[in-house]
Amino acid sequence: MLTQLNIDRSQVRRGPSGNPKDPNVANSSEDKVNKYTLPDPLVLKNGKKVKTVQEWNQLRRPEIVADFENEIYGKLPSNIPNVTWQVVSVKDTTIGNQAIKEKLLKGIVDNSAYPSLKVEINLLLATPANINKSVPVVLEFGFIKNPFSPGPIKAIGLGSAGEPTWQEQLITRGWAYAIFEPSSIQADNRAGLTKGIIGMVNKGTNRKPNDWGALRAWAWGASRAIDYFETDKDVDAKRVAIEGLSRYGKAAVVAMAFEPRISLGFIGSSGAGGVKILRRVFDEQVENLAGSEEYHWFSGSFIKYASTKTPDDLPVDAHQLVALCAPRPIFISAGSPQVEGNWIDAKGMFIGAAEAGPVYRLFEKKDLETNISPQLGTPLVSGEIAYRQHAGGHSTGPNWSTWIAWAAKYWSSVD
Ligand code: GCU
Repeated sequence: MLTQLNIDRSQVRRGPSGNPKDPNVANSSEDKVNKYTLPDPLVLKNGKKVKTVQEWNQLRRPEIVADFENEIYGKLPSNIPNVTWQVVSVKDTTIGNQAIKEKLLKGIVDNSAYPSLKVEINLLLATPANINKSVPVVLEFGFIKNPFSPGPIKAIGLGSAGEPTWQEQLITRGWAYAIFEPSSIQADNRAGLTKGIIGMVNKGTNRKPNDWGALRAWAWGASRAIDYFETDKDVDAKRVAIEGLSRYGKAAVVAMAFEPRISLGFIGSSGAGGVKILRRVFDEQVENLAGSEEYHWFSGSFIKYASTKTPDDLPVDAHQLVALCAPRPIFISAGSPQVEGNWIDAKGMFIGAAEAGPVYRLFEKKDLETNISPQLGTPLVSGEIAYRQHAGGHSTGPNWSTWIAWAAKYWSSVD
């Protein structure tokens, strides 16, 4: 990739360390945060101010989409193969104390153009038992238990002590949940880039600089799950929310930004590469994201900003990713710095949410209505941009009940 970009390895800057004992430890002091200027989401590249929703949709939004595609996340190829959904099993069972109908599905990617690779998307859909209407569904980027992935399951999104799990909370509400496994589409490592859906489209060869990275591939998979929902009368495909944590939080916001059928978002501790401002020098940096452990999440071209260019040269920043979700309601979630740590930079995510405000206001929607990061635990949930930093760790768990109450304002009707 470096050769394709004409970048010498010596030009690539190393990211700061998350370990306080290391000499190159990342900044985690508010006093040492740099000064930066954010690109204005409502100013066109020709300098003109966007004044109407129409100008946003027709002129400014496409500019921002192109910047994110060319410089950060990569483009979807034009020749992605079709996916055929198959129901593997349907059973009446329970989750906690709740009765559910659980379907396991496989999305089989047509590999006729490159038969040496096989991609099958794993999806679980659980609806409340005995419903006879289509219900809203929350789609989580996460992990499904057996039979797809034997071995230990990483618990993600568990409720805080004493609260029912997120699945039970949704089912109690009369909503459905779905879990979809990103790694069944694209492996979460650099070696996997010549395999999975990215490798299949490239026929096993290396990526070009503007090709999609894992985040877009995972987000593409979420869109295929929504295609399936459109065919299943148990769920209402007009009321689909997306949820994910950490790297899957990044995938969740990328999915929402690029997929208009996602009606609500729950973006958990997405940090750098998600809704945290990339220009902000506080804990995880562009240089970390562009490093060998994480660059597979992005397009190859993103490495420029950790070598020949700097994060200040990025034509867009994270607030514009949030803005691409407008006017749809989006909830930004973070944990407590004492428990979760500072690496994901809760304040940087707060700013990402707050600075998307002008675009939501253009749609006459309510934004965070403050530029001051709230006290831990305080929910800012009265508008279409919502934010809450819970008292727990690296999880969306303790924010589920707040999220559900907020989401219910929008899901009481199909409109
Ligand atoms: C690393 C990475 C983060 C990421 C996290 C996760 O800490 O630096 O950007 O969000 O892993 O996915 O758990």
